[in-house]
Amino acid sequence: MGQRKNFILLPEDTAWAEQIAGEIRRKMVKVEERNRETIPYMPHNGRYNNYATPEMRGWWTNGFWAGIMWQLYAATGEKRYADTARFTETVFDECIRDYTRLDHDMGFMWLHTAVADYRLTKNPQSRVRGLHVASILASRFNANGNFIRAWNTWGPQDTVDKTGWAIIDCMMNIPLLYWASEESHDPRFREVAIRHANTVMKEFIRPDGSSNHIVSFDPSTGEKIESFGGQGYENGSSWTRGQGWALYGFALSYIHTGKQEYLDTAKRVAHYFVANIPENGLIPIDFRAPKEPAWEDSSAACIAACGLLEIANCVPEYEKDCYVNAALRLLKALADKRANWDENVDNIIENCAVAYHSDEHDVGLVYADYFFIEAIFKLLGQGEFLW
Ligand code: GLY
Repeated sequence: MGQRKNFILLPEDTAWAEQIAGEIRRKMVKVEERNRETIPYMPHNGRYNNYATPEMRGWWTNGFWAGIMWQLYAATGEKRYADTARFTETVFDECIRDYTRLDHDMGFMWLHTAVADYRLTKNPQSRVRGLHVASILASRFNANGNFIRAWNTWGPQDTVDKTGWAIIDCMMNIPLLYWASEESHDPRFREVAIRHANTVMKEFIRPDGSSNHIVSFDPSTGEKIESFGGQGYENGSSWTRGQGWALYGFALSYIHTGKQEYLDTAKRVAHYFVANIPENGLIPIDFRAPKEPAWEDSSAACIAACGLLEIANCVPEYEKDCYVNAALRLLKALADKRANWDENVDNIIENCAVAYHSDEHDVGLVYADYFFIEAIFKLLGQGEFLW
């Protein structure tokens, strides 16, 4: 239980992290009060919307609010955070019933709801939910090409065939499969995760450590067809949230399997990411987009910071500082310039972006807050390892 902290901070960095953790705990008291029995995604005029509706309850980000609640529960022991987290877990039962609408994001959704509940409270019903959904995720595996299918067809207006599409984000979903094997002692889930991770290592991660967002395969032969820019600027560019998913995702695959090639890949992606951090420490939406418009994505910084700290947990003593210092640089830039501590405003982290070619820039996103909170608590050995 708890975080897997395996690095030492300088006293001034511990003091800084404690101050920020105190701000988080103070602000979240009010934010939780205002958002019980909702599933927040994005704030408008400082107040979160609610995705606990039949149309939106299956949205990929809907586990992160509960994730924040479980991190606060683990850090404070206050039961009200567990109660609020369980609201989402219960709403998600409707998503399981309506499973044809589920895509690969089941890890994001259930690791921070049912699996977190089981990890922290041993709730037996939550264990069943986690194993049930892991089985659905494993069923998306295509043995032709060894990848987990990412997305479905999104309604009658969607004419793009995505049967052969895999995306880098899925590296964060496969920990649900590692957990299912660890929990059930059945190696099949883990095998699916490993085969998918091996495909991603080969077909997504470029020699310089950057990553594609989307790769398509022939779903009948497994042959790689092409890559797409996805939520980044263009094909061949470097969508920073995707770099974060790759960095943290491969670190997680190493943690669950002990396979050195995954840690080496996580480090390669991390070195690329760190080499591209701008002078001001704030992360653009794509490392290879034009300088203007200068859109940022703070969520990418939060995800990368978590991954860097997990790499620090895994490497020998003499390598740790490189990763811890890079994470601190990202987190301090966010805390100094992009954190909103007004308790009347629901989100903490500002200047996030949904995708390069979308209208949603300079917004708050619930998952940016999740990863920021996870990272700050991780620095202090507080909260919970939910992956
Ligand atoms: N496709 C999930 C994301 O926006 O990162």
